[in-house]
Amino acid sequence: MSTRRSVIIGTGSYLPQTVLSNDDLAARLDTSDAWIVERTGIRRRHIAAQGEFTSDLGAAAARNALDAAGLSASDIDLIVVATATPDQTFPAVATVIQHKLGMTHGVAFDVGAVCSGFLYALTVADALLVNGAYARALVIGAETFSRLLDWEDRATAVLFGDGAGAVVLEAQAQTGGSADRGVLASRLHSDGRYNDLLYVDGGPGSTGTTGHLRMKGREVFRHAVVNLASVMGEVLEAAGLTPADVTWLVPHQANLRILEATARKLDLSPDKVVVTVDRHANTSAASVPLALDTAVRDGRIQPGDLLLLEAMGGGFTWGAAAVRW
Ligand code: UT7
Repeated sequence: MSTRRSVIIGTGSYLPQTVLSNDDLAARLDTSDAWIVERTGIRRRHIAAQGEFTSDLGAAAARNALDAAGLSASDIDLIVVATATPDQTFPAVATVIQHKLGMTHGVAFDVGAVCSGFLYALTVADALLVNGAYARALVIGAETFSRLLDWEDRATAVLFGDGAGAVVLEAQAQTGGSADRGVLASRLHSDGRYNDLLYVDGGPGSTGTTGHLRMKGREVFRHAVVNLASVMGEVLEAAGLTPADVTWLVPHQANLRILEATARKLDLSPDKVVVTVDRHANTSAASVPLALDTAVRDGRIQPGDLLLLEAMGGGFTWGAAAVRW
């Protein structure tokens, strides 16, 4: 039986030029390279230049993904952008990127699920391709979290960075089995009871200011490991697969200790986990597609590999997807 599946046919990413090391941060905050590396695994992060916006990062990653797919913007009819750091309150970053890519056709919109945003965007785009509404999508995670940080707060300022990642999804006829290429299954969750554990203390409808990121780190950590393990199991079961089938875990990059604990829950060896948190820090919705593009370009991800993507973020929101390369 023939089934429509969304197949990733190109990946791309973009990191701003300026690199901020842990020592750079220790020069202005009461922190140290040793503390940051031991507690998070982060060594450096990229920071967007003045005048460089989320849409610039996202458009660069999108061009990169289109090149990898051998396509141009005229071949795309859907753009879904995951971001919590839009250039402006509106319009949607997706429409700004649409314009930057020179597109006047198709549909472009944003989804907001903070660090889980890419999993949400992928799931929405997948549904719209599989139901036949669109043929090819750009799914982009793009963030300038440096603009949301309280640079006086050592507990959060050291954790985040800026960047963007993108994939080109194409609807293709597949058999419907678990050996198919493409998105085999995805699952999303949210629980608003916890929206005071990771949030921004401002916004256009409340303070009229952008506000700053606030987090109760230890509690977020605890929920992350439990929720991620649970949704990964759920998505593998939905795809008719087991942890033994996973070639690469491509996780949200918040903290190396979370990545390791999550992999242990699935009995996955650490060498099956794609890690970029050391170089990128937590880039929120950009982190999963940035990690994916890194492992595609360095040749680790090969045709037939089974990828497990996962993320957890403010809301709380969390999700996972099983994707055959
Ligand atoms: O992407 C969305 C999801 N976000 C996450 O997944 C983040 C989850 N949370 C975490 O990654 C970790 O909880 C953190 C990295 C944020 C913190 O690590 P922790 O091991 O949970 O440390 P802690 O918050 O319990 O703080 C331990 C100590 C505290 O000092 P006292 O109270 O023990 O004296 C902090 O004040 O470390 C102190 N501290 C720091 N010290 C040096 C907190 N931040 C820093 C810092 N440098 N940057």
